Amino acid sequence: MPYVDLMARYPRSKRPIEQRGREVTDADRQLSRQFGRDYFDGDRMHGYGGYNYHPRFWTGTVALMRQHYGLADDASILDVGCGKGFMLQDFSLLMPQARLQGLDVSEYAIANAHPGVKDRLQVGDARKLPFADKSFDLVTSINVAHNFELDECGQALLEVQRVAKKNSFIVVDAWRNDAEQEALHKWVLTCVTAMHVDDWEKFFARIGYTGDWAWTITETL
Ligand SMILES: C[S@@+](CC[C@H](N)C(=O)[O-])C[C@H]1O[C@@H](n2cnc3c(N)ncnc32)[C@H](O)[C@@H]1O
Repeated sequence: MPYVDLMARYPRSKRPIEQRGREVTDADRQLSRQFGRDYFDGDRMHGYGGYNYHPRFWTGTVALMRQHYGLADDASILDVGCGKGFMLQDFSLLMPQARLQGLDVSEYAIANAHPGVKDRLQVGDARKLPFADKSFDLVTSINVAHNFELDECGQALLEVQRVAKKNSFIVVDAWRNDAEQEALHKWVLTCVTAMHVDDWEKFFARIGYTGDWAWTITETL
């Protein structure tokens, strides 16, 4: 399975890339990588600067995923690295009978999850998922695997694939040219493994990841 732009409806916003590039320190990045309150709801220099639910983020994307994968009303869906469960919340509104499950390493995110799905989320590690092989109709992992060194990144992708019956969809930080690479390095806080899109595709082939993927490209405009 291939590149598929299921993030096409995710809203883009103008971000202060140059400012962050000038001001961010290694200490800021280390704090971000703890995925605690500072990352989700602290200063913009450490992450989201306030990770709050709004339907405009995921409503269009979950509809696209449902259509693309032909998900039944009662499909089972796992989101690995689900944060506060906002995407799953929108799946729950679109498909009230779906069996939804989220997993994230952040105790803070799970403790402060959207109340609509909080009881379906658990703390866990993407590199070792606590689910049996082929457990879910769709497994997603959006902007998570690039937070690991290359070997463990591969491990996380193969875990996504292992617990999916057939459909998996991952998104990772990537670039297509020098300008995007430069912007990415100024902007990202937690990303450890980022590559040119062609190198990611070679990596997927080498490790045997056969699910779907898309990129997070740091906008250069
Ligand atoms: C950029 S956020 C993306 C959150 C969500 N998928 C989204 O797109 O809004 C990365 C997420 O990966 C989670 N994460 C980082 N390392 C992880 C790990 N080892 N296992 C599971 N989740 C992890 C973080 O806590 C955070 O929620």
